[in-house]
Amino acid sequence: MSQGHGHGHGHGHSGDDYDWASLGEMLERNAEVHRDFLDQAMDWLRVQADEPARVLDVGSGPGVAACALADAFGDAEVVAADRAPELLALAQKRAARLGVEITTLRADLPDAFGELGPADVVWTSGVMHHIGDQQEALNRLAGLLRPGGVLAVVEGGLTMRFLPRDIGIGRPGLQSRLDAANDEWFSDMRDGLPGSTRTVEDWPAMLAKAGLMPSASRTFLVDLPAPLDTEPRLLLRDLLVRQREMLGDRIDAADHAVIDRLVHDDDRESLLWRPDAFVLTARTVHSARRLGDR
Ligand SMILES: C[S@@+](CC[C@H](N)C(=O)[O-])C[C@H]1O[C@@H](n2cnc3c(N)ncnc32)[C@H](O)[C@@H]1O
Repeated sequence: MSQGHGHGHGHGHSGDDYDWASLGEMLERNAEVHRDFLDQAMDWLRVQADEPARVLDVGSGPGVAACALADAFGDAEVVAADRAPELLALAQKRAARLGVEITTLRADLPDAFGELGPADVVWTSGVMHHIGDQQEALNRLAGLLRPGGVLAVVEGGLTMRFLPRDIGIGRPGLQSRLDAANDEWFSDMRDGLPGSTRTVEDWPAMLAKAGLMPSASRTFLVDLPAPLDTEPRLLLRDLLVRQREMLGDRIDAADHAVIDRLVHDDDRESLLWRPDAFVLTARTVHSARRLGDR
Protein backbone atom coordinates (compact mmCIF):
# COMPACT_ATOMS: atom_id res chain seq x y z
CA MET A 1 0.00 0.00 0.00
CA SER A 2 1.25 3.49 -0.56
CA GLN A 3 0.10 6.73 -2.05
CA GLY A 4 -3.51 6.86 -1.07
CA HIS A 5 -5.51 4.19 -2.81
CA GLY A 6 -5.06 0.83 -1.50
CA HIS A 7 -1.54 0.61 -2.74
CA GLY A 8 0.59 3.18 -4.42
CA HIS A 9 -2.03 4.37 -6.73
CA GLY A 10 -5.36 5.60 -5.88
CA HIS A 11 -8.92 7.48 -7.69
CA GLY A 12 -13.32 10.50 -9.82
CA HIS A 13 -14.73 11.84 -12.99
CA SER A 14 -12.93 12.57 -16.26
CA GLY A 15 -10.04 10.20 -15.61
CA ASP A 16 -10.18 7.10 -13.51
CA ASP A 17 -13.31 5.84 -11.83
CA TYR A 18 -12.38 6.74 -8.26
CA ASP A 19 -14.77 8.59 -6.09
CA TRP A 20 -12.02 10.87 -4.78
CA ALA A 21 -14.42 13.08 -2.88
CA SER A 22 -15.33 10.24 -0.52
CA LEU A 23 -11.68 9.54 0.25
CA GLY A 24 -10.92 12.82 2.00
CA GLU A 25 -10.53 11.46 5.49
CA MET A 26 -8.34 8.59 4.34
CA LEU A 27 -6.15 10.81 2.15
CA GLU A 28 -5.64 13.24 5.02
CA ARG A 29 -4.80 10.45 7.45
CA ASN A 30 -2.47 8.91 4.89
CA ALA A 31 -0.58 12.16 4.43
CA GLU A 32 -0.45 12.66 8.21
CA VAL A 33 1.01 9.20 8.77
CA HIS A 34 3.63 10.06 6.14
CA ARG A 35 4.34 13.34 7.88
CA ASP A 36 8.03 12.56 8.31
CA PHE A 37 8.36 12.32 4.57
CA LEU A 38 6.64 15.63 4.02
CA ASP A 39 8.74 17.44 6.61
CA GLN A 40 11.98 16.15 5.13
CA ALA A 41 10.86 16.80 1.56
CA MET A 42 9.93 20.40 2.45
CA ASP A 43 13.35 20.99 3.99
CA TRP A 44 14.91 19.63 0.82
CA LEU A 45 12.67 21.71 -1.43
CA ARG A 46 13.45 24.87 0.51
CA VAL A 47 17.09 24.46 -0.43
CA GLN A 48 16.17 24.27 -4.10
CA ALA A 49 13.55 26.99 -4.33
CA ASP A 50 14.62 30.49 -3.64
CA GLU A 51 11.84 32.70 -2.28
CA PRO A 52 9.09 31.55 -4.63
CA ALA A 53 6.24 34.00 -5.18
CA ARG A 54 3.66 31.42 -6.29
CA VAL A 55 3.53 27.74 -5.36
CA LEU A 56 1.11 25.19 -6.83
CA ASP A 57 0.10 21.86 -5.33
CA VAL A 58 -1.44 20.05 -8.29
CA GLY A 59 -3.87 17.31 -7.24
CA SER A 60 -3.64 18.50 -3.67
CA GLY A 61 -6.37 16.29 -2.22
CA PRO A 62 -7.18 17.50 1.31
CA GLY A 63 -4.20 19.85 1.29
CA VAL A 64 -1.72 18.36 3.73
CA ALA A 65 1.18 19.14 1.40
CA ALA A 66 -0.33 22.51 0.42
CA CYS A 67 -0.36 23.51 4.09
CA ALA A 68 3.20 22.24 4.54
CA LEU A 69 4.21 24.29 1.48
CA ALA A 70 2.50 27.37 2.96
CA ASP A 71 4.45 26.79 6.14
CA ALA A 72 7.74 26.27 4.28
CA PHE A 73 7.28 29.27 1.97
CA GLY A 74 5.63 31.80 4.23
CA ASP A 75 5.79 34.68 1.75
CA ALA A 76 4.44 32.74 -1.21
CA GLU A 77 0.90 32.51 -2.55
CA VAL A 78 0.16 28.79 -2.22
CA VAL A 79 -2.58 27.34 -4.43
CA ALA A 80 -4.10 23.90 -3.87
CA ALA A 81 -5.58 22.63 -7.15
CA ASP A 82 -7.73 19.52 -7.46
CA ARG A 83 -10.75 18.33 -9.38
CA ALA A 84 -12.70 17.34 -6.25
CA PRO A 85 -14.30 20.40 -4.60
CA GLU A 86 -14.99 18.35 -1.47
CA LEU A 87 -11.26 17.79 -1.02
CA LEU A 88 -10.52 21.46 -1.65
CA ALA A 89 -13.01 22.32 1.11
CA LEU A 90 -11.07 20.02 3.45
CA ALA A 91 -7.85 21.75 2.40
CA GLN A 92 -9.34 25.14 3.30
CA LYS A 93 -10.50 23.85 6.67
CA ARG A 94 -7.11 22.39 7.39
CA ALA A 95 -5.35 25.64 6.51
CA ALA A 96 -7.69 27.59 8.80
CA ARG A 97 -7.07 25.09 11.60
CA LEU A 98 -3.30 25.35 11.20
CA GLY A 99 -3.29 29.11 10.74
CA VAL A 100 -1.64 29.06 7.30
CA GLU A 101 -2.89 30.71 4.16
CA ILE A 102 -3.73 28.85 0.97
CA THR A 103 -6.11 29.45 -1.89
CA THR A 104 -7.91 26.67 -3.75
CA LEU A 105 -8.61 26.14 -7.42
CA ARG A 106 -10.91 23.57 -8.96
CA ALA A 107 -9.01 22.03 -11.85
CA ASP A 108 -9.96 18.90 -13.74
CA LEU A 109 -6.89 17.80 -15.66
CA PRO A 110 -5.79 17.57 -18.39
CA ASP A 111 -8.44 20.07 -19.58
CA ALA A 112 -7.63 22.64 -16.88
CA PHE A 113 -3.83 22.80 -17.25
CA GLY A 114 -4.27 26.23 -18.87
CA GLU A 115 -6.07 27.54 -15.77
CA LEU A 116 -3.35 26.77 -13.23
CA GLY A 117 -1.30 29.90 -13.93
CA PRO A 118 2.48 30.51 -13.71
CA ALA A 119 4.43 29.28 -10.69
CA ASP A 120 7.89 29.20 -9.15
CA VAL A 121 7.33 25.85 -7.47
CA VAL A 122 5.00 23.11 -8.66
CA TRP A 123 4.49 20.14 -6.34
CA THR A 124 2.48 17.15 -7.46
CA SER A 125 2.19 13.96 -5.48
CA GLY A 126 0.50 10.76 -6.58
CA VAL A 127 -1.42 12.48 -9.39
CA MET A 128 0.52 12.10 -12.64
CA HIS A 129 -0.24 8.37 -12.78
CA HIS A 130 -3.97 9.21 -12.89
CA ILE A 131 -3.57 11.15 -16.12
CA GLY A 132 -3.66 9.23 -19.42
CA ASP A 133 -0.60 10.86 -20.98
CA GLN A 134 1.90 11.33 -18.18
CA GLN A 135 4.59 12.86 -20.41
CA GLU A 136 2.17 15.43 -21.80
CA ALA A 137 1.05 16.22 -18.25
CA LEU A 138 4.66 16.86 -17.23
CA ASN A 139 5.15 18.99 -20.35
CA ARG A 140 2.18 21.12 -19.31
CA LEU A 141 3.41 21.45 -15.71
CA ALA A 142 6.91 22.36 -16.95
CA GLY A 143 5.26 25.04 -19.10
CA LEU A 144 3.87 26.71 -15.96
CA LEU A 145 7.30 27.30 -14.44
CA ARG A 146 8.82 30.72 -14.42
CA PRO A 147 12.57 30.82 -15.21
CA GLY A 148 14.46 29.21 -12.30
CA GLY A 149 11.29 27.50 -11.10
CA VAL A 150 11.20 23.97 -9.69
CA LEU A 151 8.88 21.07 -10.48
CA ALA A 152 8.75 18.36 -7.79
CA VAL A 153 6.99 15.13 -8.72
CA VAL A 154 6.27 12.45 -6.14
CA GLU A 155 5.94 9.15 -7.98
CA GLY A 156 7.42 5.70 -7.60
CA GLY A 157 9.09 4.94 -4.30
CA LEU A 158 8.34 1.70 -2.52
CA THR A 159 5.09 0.01 -1.75
CA MET A 160 4.18 0.13 1.91
CA ARG A 161 4.96 -2.91 4.04
CA PHE A 162 2.84 -3.28 7.14
CA LEU A 163 2.76 -6.93 8.21
CA PRO A 164 5.32 -9.71 8.74
CA ARG A 165 5.55 -12.41 6.05
CA ASP A 166 3.83 -14.88 8.37
CA ILE A 167 1.04 -13.35 10.44
CA GLY A 168 -0.11 -16.60 12.02
CA ILE A 169 -3.35 -16.80 10.05
CA GLY A 170 -3.77 -17.81 6.42
CA ARG A 171 -0.99 -18.59 3.97
CA PRO A 172 2.29 -16.70 4.56
CA GLY A 173 3.14 -14.00 2.02
CA LEU A 174 -0.16 -12.10 1.92
CA GLN A 175 1.57 -8.78 1.28
CA SER A 176 3.48 -10.05 -1.72
CA ARG A 177 0.28 -11.42 -3.22
CA LEU A 178 -1.48 -8.11 -2.58
CA ASP A 179 1.40 -6.28 -4.26
CA ALA A 180 1.14 -8.48 -7.35
CA ALA A 181 -2.64 -8.05 -7.54
CA ASN A 182 -2.25 -4.30 -7.06
CA ASP A 183 0.27 -4.05 -9.87
CA GLU A 184 -2.16 -5.77 -12.24
CA TRP A 185 -4.98 -3.55 -11.07
CA PHE A 186 -2.81 -0.49 -11.56
CA SER A 187 -1.96 -1.41 -15.16
CA ASP A 188 -5.65 -1.95 -15.92
CA MET A 189 -6.49 1.36 -14.27
CA ARG A 190 -3.93 3.14 -16.46
CA ASP A 191 -5.14 1.34 -19.61
CA GLY A 192 -8.65 2.61 -18.86
CA LEU A 193 -7.71 6.29 -18.54
CA PRO A 194 -8.81 8.65 -21.32
CA GLY A 195 -5.91 9.12 -23.75
CA SER A 196 -3.93 6.40 -21.98
CA THR A 197 -0.39 6.40 -23.33
CA ARG A 198 2.31 3.97 -22.34
CA THR A 199 5.51 5.66 -21.18
CA VAL A 200 8.74 4.35 -19.73
CA GLU A 201 8.21 5.60 -16.20
CA ASP A 202 11.70 7.02 -15.86
CA TRP A 203 10.75 10.26 -14.15
CA PRO A 204 14.08 12.12 -14.48
CA ALA A 205 14.16 11.27 -18.20
CA MET A 206 10.54 12.40 -18.55
CA LEU A 207 11.35 15.67 -16.78
CA ALA A 208 14.28 16.22 -19.16
CA LYS A 209 12.01 15.50 -22.11
CA ALA A 210 9.65 18.15 -20.75
CA GLY A 211 12.50 20.64 -21.27
CA LEU A 212 13.67 20.87 -17.64
CA MET A 213 17.04 20.22 -16.03
CA PRO A 214 16.51 17.30 -13.64
CA SER A 215 18.23 18.19 -10.37
CA ALA A 216 17.76 15.17 -8.14
CA SER A 217 15.62 12.24 -7.09
CA ARG A 218 15.51 11.85 -3.32
CA THR A 219 13.86 9.03 -1.46
CA PHE A 220 12.58 9.50 2.07
CA LEU A 221 11.99 6.64 4.43
CA VAL A 222 8.85 6.43 6.53
CA ASP A 223 9.49 4.00 9.35
CA LEU A 224 6.89 3.56 12.08
CA PRO A 225 7.84 0.42 13.99
CA ALA A 226 5.41 -1.84 15.84
CA PRO A 227 3.53 -1.36 18.04
CA LEU A 228 1.66 1.34 16.14
CA ASP A 229 -0.39 4.20 17.52
CA THR A 230 -4.07 4.36 16.68
CA GLU A 231 -3.91 6.68 13.65
CA PRO A 232 -1.62 4.50 11.53
CA ARG A 233 -3.71 1.47 12.52
CA LEU A 234 -6.86 3.21 11.31
CA LEU A 235 -5.08 4.10 8.07
CA LEU A 236 -3.97 0.51 7.47
CA ARG A 237 -7.48 -0.73 8.10
CA ASP A 238 -9.02 1.82 5.70
CA LEU A 239 -6.42 1.11 3.00
CA LEU A 240 -7.03 -2.61 3.29
CA VAL A 241 -10.83 -2.21 3.16
CA ARG A 242 -10.30 -0.24 -0.02
CA GLN A 243 -7.95 -2.81 -1.49
CA ARG A 244 -10.43 -5.56 -0.73
CA GLU A 245 -13.05 -3.71 -2.83
CA MET A 246 -10.63 -2.76 -5.58
CA LEU A 247 -8.96 -6.11 -6.01
CA GLY A 248 -12.09 -8.30 -5.93
CA ASP A 249 -11.31 -11.68 -7.46
CA ARG A 250 -7.70 -10.77 -8.20
CA ILE A 251 -7.18 -12.29 -4.76
CA ASP A 252 -8.45 -15.70 -3.79
CA ALA A 253 -11.14 -16.62 -1.26
CA ALA A 254 -8.63 -17.74 1.38
CA ASP A 255 -6.84 -14.38 1.28
CA HIS A 256 -10.19 -12.58 1.33
CA ALA A 257 -11.06 -14.46 4.51
CA VAL A 258 -7.80 -13.32 6.14
CA ILE A 259 -8.34 -9.72 5.02
CA ASP A 260 -11.87 -9.84 6.46
CA ARG A 261 -10.33 -10.65 9.84
CA LEU A 262 -7.62 -8.02 9.50
CA VAL A 263 -10.18 -5.26 8.94
CA HIS A 264 -12.74 -6.46 11.46
CA ASP A 265 -12.30 -4.13 14.42
CA ASP A 266 -13.61 -6.63 17.02
CA ASP A 267 -11.21 -9.38 15.92
CA ARG A 268 -8.03 -9.68 18.00
CA GLU A 269 -6.15 -10.55 14.80
CA SER A 270 -7.25 -7.25 13.23
CA LEU A 271 -4.99 -4.36 12.29
CA LEU A 272 -6.49 -2.34 15.10
CA TRP A 273 -5.32 -4.85 17.69
CA ARG A 274 -2.35 -6.87 16.48
CA PRO A 275 1.03 -6.00 18.00
CA ASP A 276 3.04 -6.76 14.85
CA ALA A 277 1.58 -4.15 12.47
CA PHE A 278 4.05 -1.50 11.34
CA VAL A 279 4.49 1.06 8.56
CA LEU A 280 7.60 0.89 6.43
CA THR A 281 7.70 2.68 3.14
CA ALA A 282 9.72 5.07 1.01
CA ARG A 283 8.60 8.01 -1.08
CA THR A 284 10.59 9.44 -3.96
CA VAL A 285 10.53 13.05 -5.11
CA HIS A 286 11.93 13.82 -8.56
CA SER A 287 12.80 17.45 -8.97
CA ALA A 288 13.80 19.50 -11.99
CA ARG A 289 14.36 23.14 -12.78
CA ARG A 290 13.49 25.46 -15.59
CA LEU A 291 16.73 27.10 -16.60
CA GLY A 292 17.02 30.85 -16.98
CA ASP A 293 17.42 33.89 -14.81
CA ARG A 294 14.58 34.81 -12.59
C1 LIG B 1 -3.58 9.81 -4.60
S1 LIG B 1 -4.40 11.33 -4.33
C2 LIG B 1 -3.03 12.33 -3.80
C3 LIG B 1 -3.43 13.49 -2.94
C4 LIG B 1 -2.23 14.32 -2.44
N1 LIG B 1 -1.49 14.93 -3.53
C5 LIG B 1 -1.32 13.47 -1.60
O1 LIG B 1 -0.21 13.17 -2.03
O2 LIG B 1 -1.72 13.11 -0.49
C6 LIG B 1 -4.69 11.92 -5.97
C7 LIG B 1 -5.36 13.29 -6.00
O3 LIG B 1 -5.37 13.75 -7.35
C8 LIG B 1 -6.63 14.24 -7.68
N2 LIG B 1 -6.83 13.97 -9.10
C9 LIG B 1 -6.85 12.76 -9.70
N3 LIG B 1 -7.03 12.88 -11.00
C10 LIG B 1 -7.14 14.22 -11.25
C11 LIG B 1 -7.36 14.98 -12.44
N4 LIG B 1 -7.51 14.38 -13.62
N5 LIG B 1 -7.40 16.34 -12.32
C12 LIG B 1 -7.23 16.95 -11.12
N6 LIG B 1 -7.03 16.26 -9.97
C13 LIG B 1 -7.00 14.92 -10.03
C14 LIG B 1 -7.62 13.49 -6.80
O4 LIG B 1 -8.85 14.21 -6.61
C15 LIG B 1 -6.80 13.32 -5.52
O5 LIG B 1 -6.99 14.39 -4.65
